[in-house]
Amino acid sequence: MKAKIDLTNYEVGYNIPALPGMDEADIQTPCLVVDLAALERNLDKMQSHADKMGVRLRVHGKMHKSADIAKMQIERGACGICCQKVSEAESFAKNGIKDILVSNQVRDLAKIDRLARLPNYGVRTIVCVDDIDNIKDLSSAAQKYGNEIEALVEIDCGAGRCGVSSSEEVVKIAKAINEAEGLKFSGIQAYQGAMQHLDDYNERKAKIDIAVAIVKDAVNALKAEGLVCDIIGGGGTGSYYFEGNSGVYNELQCGSYAFMDADYGRILDENGKRIDETQFENSLFILTSIMSHTKTDKAICDAGLKVQSVDSGMPTIFGRKDVTYIKCSDEHGVIADPENKLKINDKLKLVPGHCDPTCNIHDFYVGVRNGKVESLIPVTARGLAF
Ligand SMILES: Cc1ncc(COP(=O)(O)O)c(C=O)c1O
Repeated sequence: MKAKIDLTNYEVGYNIPALPGMDEADIQTPCLVVDLAALERNLDKMQSHADKMGVRLRVHGKMHKSADIAKMQIERGACGICCQKVSEAESFAKNGIKDILVSNQVRDLAKIDRLARLPNYGVRTIVCVDDIDNIKDLSSAAQKYGNEIEALVEIDCGAGRCGVSSSEEVVKIAKAINEAEGLKFSGIQAYQGAMQHLDDYNERKAKIDIAVAIVKDAVNALKAEGLVCDIIGGGGTGSYYFEGNSGVYNELQCGSYAFMDADYGRILDENGKRIDETQFENSLFILTSIMSHTKTDKAICDAGLKVQSVDSGMPTIFGRKDVTYIKCSDEHGVIADPENKLKINDKLKLVPGHCDPTCNIHDFYVGVRNGKVESLIPVTARGLAF
C-alpha cells in the first residue's frame, strides 16, 4: 500500500517516526506500527466470514480513522463504512469513501448542516435517528442542499446508550422519516455494545439472543406497516457471528478485528480459546524503546499515557512472557523485568489495551513488512471529535 501523502517535508524523528524504505530497527519511538501482512489477513478473514454468512460488512472506521485502511476493506468487499461523528464522515468523504453511515445521533444544527452536504462528495449518507424531533431538522438541511439523507431508526437492544426502547417507537419514527422531504427510511441500527467484551462466549450469545429478538420484533412491526429495511445493522468483533447468522441482521459493523487490542484479545471463543489466538491477529503495536534500567527488576520505556489509552487496561508486550508492562505516567512506562533481561534501547512491541482511542492520538501508522518500512499511513481523521 502506498502512502497517500507527500512526504518530502517530513524529517524522521522530528515530525514523522519513519519513512518508507527504512529498516524497521531504525523507526523512531514511541509510535504506532502496523504489521501489514497481519492486517491484510485480518481483513480477508472478516470479509470471508461475512460473505459466508451472506451479510454485508460495513466496517467501523472510528477504530482506525484511516481512509487508506477503509479502502483496503472496501477493496476486499466491504459495502462501506460506519463512523461516529460528522467530522470523521467528512474526513472519509474527502478522502474518497463513498458509502458512509454515521452510526450515531446528529442533533446540533451546524453538524446537521454539514451532514447534509456530504452527498456533494458523491457519498451515500446515512444517519441514525432515535427522536422524532430530529427529523424536521434533518429534512430541512437535506432540502436546503437538494440532497438525500438516509436514516436508520436506532433501537436500544441492550447497549443502554442511544436508541428507542420499543417497536412501536421504531415504527412511529420510521413513518415520520418516510414522509419527510429529503429523507429516506433505510432500516434499523441495533448495536449491542455492552456485551462485546464479556469473556464468556455463552454470556455474549445470551445477550445477542435478546438483541436479535428485539430487532426481529421491530422488523416485523415495520413490515406490517409496509416499511422495508434495506439495512439492519449492528455487530462487532466480539459478536459478529451471532448477528451474521441470526437471519435478521444483514450488515455487520465490526471495527477492532482489523488491529485487535489487548482487551479484545482476552475474550474467548466457543472452545474457551482467546480470540487473538484463534480468530484475529494483533496487527497494531506501539513500538517503544527502553530508556532507563536503574533497578534490576524494572525497566522504563518511552511509551506512557501520551501515546496510548489505558481505559481498558495496560498494554501487553507482544511475544514476551518474561516482561510485563505494569504502569505508566505521561511519558514513561514501567516494565517489570524480574530476570533483568532488557537492555537500554531494546525495542518492544506493545499491544494497546484499547485500539480506538490509542489510534486517535497518532498522526501515522508505520506500515512494516519483512523488517522494512513499506508505507506511512495517515490517521486521516485523527483527533476529530466534532
Ligand atoms: C455503533 C457501533 N457499531 C459497531 C461497533 C463495533 O466495533 P468493534 O468491532 O470494535 O467492537 C462499535 C464500537 O464501539 C459501535 O459503536
